Amino acid sequence: TQESNFEITDANFAKNIYQPRNPFGHKGTFGHALLIAGSQGKYGAALMAAHACLRTGVGLLTCNFPEEIAMPLAITLPEAMSMKRNETIDWDKYKSIGIGPGLGMESFDIIKDVLTHTKSPLLIDADGLNMIAANDELKSLIPQNAILTPHPKEFERLFGKTANEFDRIDLALQKSQELHCVIVLKGHNTLIAADGVGYFNTTGNVGLATGGSGDTLSGIITSLLAQGYISKNAAILGVYLHGLAADLALSKQSVESLLPSDLNQYLGMAFKSLG
Ligand code: APR
Ligand code: MG
Repeated sequence: TQESNFEITDANFAKNIYQPRNPFGHKGTFGHALLIAGSQGKYGAALMAAHACLRTGVGLLTCNFPEEIAMPLAITLPEAMSMKRNETIDWDKYKSIGIGPGLGMESFDIIKDVLTHTKSPLLIDADGLNMIAANDELKSLIPQNAILTPHPKEFERLFGKTANEFDRIDLALQKSQELHCVIVLKGHNTLIAADGVGYFNTTGNVGLATGGSGDTLSGIITSLLAQGYISKNAAILGVYLHGLAADLALSKQSVESLLPSDLNQYLGMAFKSLG
């Protein structure tokens, strides 16, 4: 049986992981992230992930988005660069890659390409996970230290049904060891499973139950990976900051009115609480 260990990731835990920015740093110090996201009908997911990625402190961001949102991206988020979906990816260029938010299920070629060639720490979310779940070849290509961020339904597609939530948590711990991956099982009190240890997050609220919250989290974690946090710490700190931004946002919003794109405005205060 699993000798499973659990930890609670509260403010002190997050403060211990947090690496204050080097005052002498330049954009190269804070990494270049590549986000591969968006498809027809899910353009917003890509834009929300990009926005959160920049607000979390990445040095440079390149977006591999559908061509029709290259211009809206440049206007709403001028700090971001962009490339075409089928443009050749320079695998040495990126400090992290995030793939999946709103990607759609028709992007098999690019996810296979990324899983096969990436040298960078990888975050896989949403349709990235759904495509992997639907294809055994892709499943066998998941690189070590990848961060997978499934919600319960995506988790079930990937790893199968469990009798209850407790069994799902045990399965997440087991799979994190088997695949040498970090699994972020999202929900109220998100669980981060790494090396068979489970870390329960303490921030966040039901205001996050609006489509787009997950895409925002993907941008945050991809940004932390680019800044040099190891996968486990990027996942734990990212989930903590995402939830804390949502908690801080309740100073002005209610759990009903909160929108995922509001979180960006509170990431600054969330970071300051770690200092
Ligand atoms: N308390 C705390 N956090 C919560 C709560 C809650 N009650 N409900 C949701 N959250 C958080 C989760 O922990 C997670 O970080 O909000 C985020 C939701 O992420 P997802 O479930 O991935 O949702 P999202 O991707 O934003 O939108 C739904 O997922 O099923 C796919 O493609 C589908 O577009 C859809 C998308
Ligand atoms: Mg999602």
